[in-house]
Amino acid sequence: MKATLSLKIIQEKVKTCKKCDLCGTRTNAVPGIGNQNADIIFIGEAPGKNEDLYGEPFIGTAGKRLDDALKNAGLTRNSVYITNIVKCRPPKNRIPNDVEKSMCNEYLKDEIAIINPKIICLLGNTPYYSILGGKEISKNHGKFISKDNRMYFVTFHPAATIYNQKLVNVFKNDISKLVKKLQKLKTNSVD
Ligand code: URA
Ligand code: SF4
Repeated sequence: MKATLSLKIIQEKVKTCKKCDLCGTRTNAVPGIGNQNADIIFIGEAPGKNEDLYGEPFIGTAGKRLDDALKNAGLTRNSVYITNIVKCRPPKNRIPNDVEKSMCNEYLKDEIAIINPKIICLLGNTPYYSILGGKEISKNHGKFISKDNRMYFVTFHPAATIYNQKLVNVFKNDISKLVKKLQKLKTNSVD
């Protein structure tokens, strides 16, 4: 109950947030969405055009690719939590800058603390670099990385599968690997 309420508070804060310049160009801020008891949080880069129009993360073409991979691994969108490094669309979908990322980090930090997921899945270079300082997704995708008592999983941004068809199966396999690891963690845990 507490978690639902607090997620709601973050959502409301995001919707009216004016902490960085992206508030001036957005149509709608895009708060994270999903299950407060989720075992996995997916973190993307920033809202795109459709997300900005409708105020919901990953509802465009990239979102469809993510949904497909989730379904293929036996997960539904409702069972996970999906959010972004920054909650407002950067003009022309440019990569969010350091000021925007740091201003927006408070929300992400709170989302993670409230949900307390077993694994955090980083979708592409922006979240990989922002959270773990990592580079070169193509070399490091499919890895589990522990940092500050949290487990992270690194994979491609689902949009990468639109530009490179070869990545469709690579991405799906990564997400299946993630789900298998989660099942293992849940079988081994006593709670
Ligand atoms: N790309 C992202 O990184 N996030 C979205 O919400 C949509 C597209
Ligand atoms: Fe606020 Fe984040 Fe949007 Fe910037 S990107 S205005 S910090 S919600």
